[in-house]
Formats: sequence, structure tokens, C-alpha cells
Amino acid sequence: MGTQKLLIAIDGPAGVGKSSAGKAVALKYGLSFLSTGEMYRCLGWKALQLGLPLDDDERVCAAAKAINWGFERLPDSSLKILIDGVYLGDKLLADDIGQAASKTSALPKARAVITEKQKQMALEGGLVMEGRDIGTIIAPFAKVKIYLTATAEVRAERRVLQLKEKGQSANYDELLASIKARDERDSNRKTAPLKPAADAVIIDTSALNLERVILKITELVDERSL
Ligand code: DC
Repeated sequence: MGTQKLLIAIDGPAGVGKSSAGKAVALKYGLSFLSTGEMYRCLGWKALQLGLPLDDDERVCAAAKAINWGFERLPDSSLKILIDGVYLGDKLLADDIGQAASKTSALPKARAVITEKQKQMALEGGLVMEGRDIGTIIAPFAKVKIYLTATAEVRAERRVLQLKEKGQSANYDELLASIKARDERDSNRKTAPLKPAADAVIIDTSALNLERVILKITELVDERSL
């Protein structure tokens, strides 16, 4: 099979390096990279903007249905996500948006709306999709399914470095607590919980640098898809 319709699924918990690895892999194979978490962050942002209770599935679902999505490919392979014509960029990285995304993404009706959109995009292919349920729900047909994992402590340390590089303040203990809270919620929710697909290849990145992770993924892609 050519790379035109290739679909690579990368799942795993918050802060494990899915985006950095996914973008590099997408560039190598001429694919686009989609962060599905960013779509949930957009939904969380919208719910906060509208002042909706984050546990009100009916109202968050209505807000999700009304979203007009836009996607533009950037030179680094990633799809820039526009919500109702607005690009939120780094604003989406704020911790309150992450928590709002984690809460609203657990609402079954609201989630179904986003899931539908992501399934359509997966069927079109030509993507590296990163998220929590890509290999299990969105694209169970993907030939390459990766599940990245790392200890919460390692992920918190990486997040501190990332934020500092962006000139933002970072508190290790707070970030660690936030990561653990999100892991707990994302893994234990009823709808599409975070878990590896039965046929996913699990890569523990705790002791691996980014280059090694990218290499492992590309070896797998070459083995499975070409
Ligand atoms: O990957 P991220 O940290 O940007 O994701 C933000 C939240 O969105 C995360 O806590 C859980 C949710 N999410 C999800 O439920 N399913 C996905 N495929 C991606 C993210």
C-alpha cells in the first residue's frame, strides 16, 4: 500500500510525547498530523467561553454540534485547528483548558459528536492521529497502532521543561498532581477510556529520548505498511 491513505494511530496518556513523535513521523511519510486532544481542548474552551456546566452533556453536546471546524496543514505536518474560524494556538495549553477538555470529553453525547468528525477524517486517511481512543474506536482498521506510555513523574518533568522553554511558569508538584488527576479520569470513564488496543505496540518512553521513539515507530511503519 502507498502512503497516500496510510493512517497511523498513536494513543497514550497526557504528556507522553505523542505530538512530538507524531509530527516527525507524519513529516517522514508525507502525512498530516492531527492532535485529537486539541479538538477536545477546543470543545473545553468553548464550554468555558459559554459558561456551560462542564457536566451538562445536553448543553455541551449542543455546543459541540454547532462547532464549525477548519483544518490547515502547517509546514511541520500538523493540522492547524480552527474553531468557528478562530485559531487558539498556545491558549489551548492552559491547565484549566486541559481539565475542561478531560471533563467534557467524558460526556457521552458530546463525545459522540467529536468522535463522528474524527472517524470521517480517519476514513479519508493520510494522517497520523494522536489521542486516547484512536486505535480502539476512531480507527480500529489502522495498520499501525502505537501506544506510548511513561511514568507520571517523567511526564511531569517533561512538561516543566516544555513550559519553561515557552517562557511560561511551571510548578512540578502541581503539574504532577494535574497529570495524575487527568490519567485517573481519562482511564476510568465509561465512554472510550484510555487503553491500548489489543493489537497496539506498546512503547514505554520513560527512558527513551525522542529520536529513539521516532525510530521505533518508523521501523514499525516500514514493517507493517510498505
Ligand atoms: O492530549 P491532550 O492532553 O491535549 O487531551 C486533552 C483531553 O482530551 C484529555 O484529558 C482527554 C481528552 N481526549 C480524549 O478524551 N480523547 C482523545 N482522543 C484525545 C483527548
